[in-house]
Amino acid sequence: MSFEIDVITLFPEMFDAITKYGITGRASKNEIFRLHTWNPRSFARDNYRTVDDSPYGGGPGMIMLAPPLDEAITRAKIRQLSEGINETKVIYLSPQGKLLDHEKVLQLTKLEGMILLCGRYEGIDERIIMRQVDEEISIGNYVISGGELAAMVLVDSIVRHIPGALGSPNSAREDSFSNHLLEFPQYTRPEIYRGDSVPSILLSGDHAKIDRWRLQQSLGKTWLRRPDLLELKYKQGISKEEEELLEEFKRTPNFRIN
Ligand SMILES: C[S@@+](CC[C@H](N)C(=O)[O-])C[C@H]1O[C@@H](n2cnc3c(N)ncnc32)[C@H](O)[C@@H]1O
Repeated sequence: MSFEIDVITLFPEMFDAITKYGITGRASKNEIFRLHTWNPRSFARDNYRTVDDSPYGGGPGMIMLAPPLDEAITRAKIRQLSEGINETKVIYLSPQGKLLDHEKVLQLTKLEGMILLCGRYEGIDERIIMRQVDEEISIGNYVISGGELAAMVLVDSIVRHIPGALGSPNSAREDSFSNHLLEFPQYTRPEIYRGDSVPSILLSGDHAKIDRWRLQQSLGKTWLRRPDLLELKYKQGISKEEEELLEEFKRTPNFRIN
C-alpha cells in the first residue's frame, strides 16, 4: 500500500522536484508514495479565482481566504478515505509550528498518509487552522516565502524511511541522527587525493574493525559538533563499548572539524 500524500498548494508544479528526481522520484514511480495536489484556486468562489484578501485590522500583505482552503482540504480528506487511509493528519507547514526533527519524521512515517497545507503571502486565515489542522510543523527558525519547500523537505525526510525507498535498507539506519549520532566520515576513490589518504582501516577488509572505527568516529563527531545530541544518547542509554570508544576518541581526536 502506498503512503498517500495530498498537498494543498497554489503551485502544484513545484512538487515535480520530488516526484520526478532522485530517490523520491524513484519512490514515486514505484508507488511507494503517491502525491496528489489540490489547488485552492480551483475552489475560489468568484470569476477572478481570488484566493487571498487583506488582513482585518490592517497591516501589510495578504492572507489566504478560508473557503477555498476549507474546500480543498475536505476534498483531500475524502480522497484519502476513498484510498482506505484511516491514519492521516492535516499538517500546516508554518514557521510557528513545532520544529521538525528526526523523532518527528519517524513518528509521521507510521501514518498511512497525510495532507499538507502550504501557505503563501502572509499566511492563512486562523479559522482554517482551528477547524482543519491537526498539527503545525516548522522546518526552522526562519521564514520562507511559501510552505511548498517545507512540505517537500517533510515528504523527502519521511519517504527515506519507507521500506523500499532506499537502495539499501541500512542507509537510513546509518544516516545522521539515527541512534542520536552524526554519521561517520565517508571516503571514495581515489585512495590518495592531493596528498590526503583514506584512513588505512577502511582498506583493511576487517569489517569488525571498520564498524568499531566508524562507531568511534560517529561518537567523536557528535561529541565535537552536537553535544546536545550526545546528551540524548546518554539518556537513551550508552553501551560500555560506546563509552570506551568515546573516551579513547577524546584523548586523541583524529578528524578535522570545519
Ligand atoms: C511568508 S510565510 C508567512 C509567515 C507569517 N507571516 C508568520 O510570520 O508566521 C508564508 C508561508 O510560508 C510557509 N513557511 C514560512 N516559513 C516556514 C517555516 N520555517 N517552516 C514551514 N513553513 C514555513 C508557511 O506555510 C507560511 O504560511
